[in-house]
Amino acid sequence: MGRTKLKKFIELKSFPNVFDQEQEMISANLKKYFANKNSYTLEVGCGEGDYTVNLAKQFSDRNFIGIDIKQARLYVGAKKALENNINNAAFISARVEKLTDVFKENEVEEIYIPFPEPHVRRRSIPRRLVSPEMLNVYKNILRSDGRIHFKTDDRDLFQYSLEVISKAGLTIIKQNSDVHSQENLTLAETITTRYERYYKREGRKIHYVCFRF
Ligand SMILES: C[S@@+](CC[C@H](N)C(=O)[O-])C[C@H]1O[C@@H](n2cnc3c(N)ncnc32)[C@H](O)[C@@H]1O
Repeated sequence: MGRTKLKKFIELKSFPNVFDQEQEMISANLKKYFANKNSYTLEVGCGEGDYTVNLAKQFSDRNFIGIDIKQARLYVGAKKALENNINNAAFISARVEKLTDVFKENEVEEIYIPFPEPHVRRRSIPRRLVSPEMLNVYKNILRSDGRIHFKTDDRDLFQYSLEVISKAGLTIIKQNSDVHSQENLTLAETITTRYERYYKREGRKIHYVCFRF
């Protein structure tokens, strides 16, 4: 590990808004941190947590949590939240597959999945954050009326997600195959992440779908 990365890693350990899925009391610790009974909105594979920070700034009566396995990325969002006194945002170093160890049934209000890896090899398809296996994880923690927002620049992954949604008989609330060429966008479409800004500069089309169980 490089010196800068190591420094960030050590600093991250002292951040009050960062939790580790391995912590024994993680659910209780999250409740203590937020100190309210507001529901949770998750950003999975959050990277630098653009949705978490942006939404938390706008909705002070809700709790937002970014989840990622890469701590160097979590560091950026967590630091931004701390520097801006955004107390209703937190971050968890965790695999999405383990979320049922952290959250109980109906505890989550909404889930954002921005720009996950496409995992093109056949055997890694179950690791896609919109695979049936992952949807099952979300179903176990999401409220029955909870929405899932998915954004990608990858046409094949988008097509795959629509097939998964259709096969599972889920309800599509909004679908947009070229976000940046449209007007009247929802807030979920408007917020951009680090990866989205990069893809936008490259002139790639951004696809979005919002759906529920
Ligand atoms: C392509 S990056 C996108 C980051 C960010 N969402 C953005 O749009 O800027 C995908 C992120 O998902 C995270 N990720 C991939 N699989 C994951 C998993 N199973 N659990 C948690 N995070 C995961 C990666 O570590 C990475 O930071």
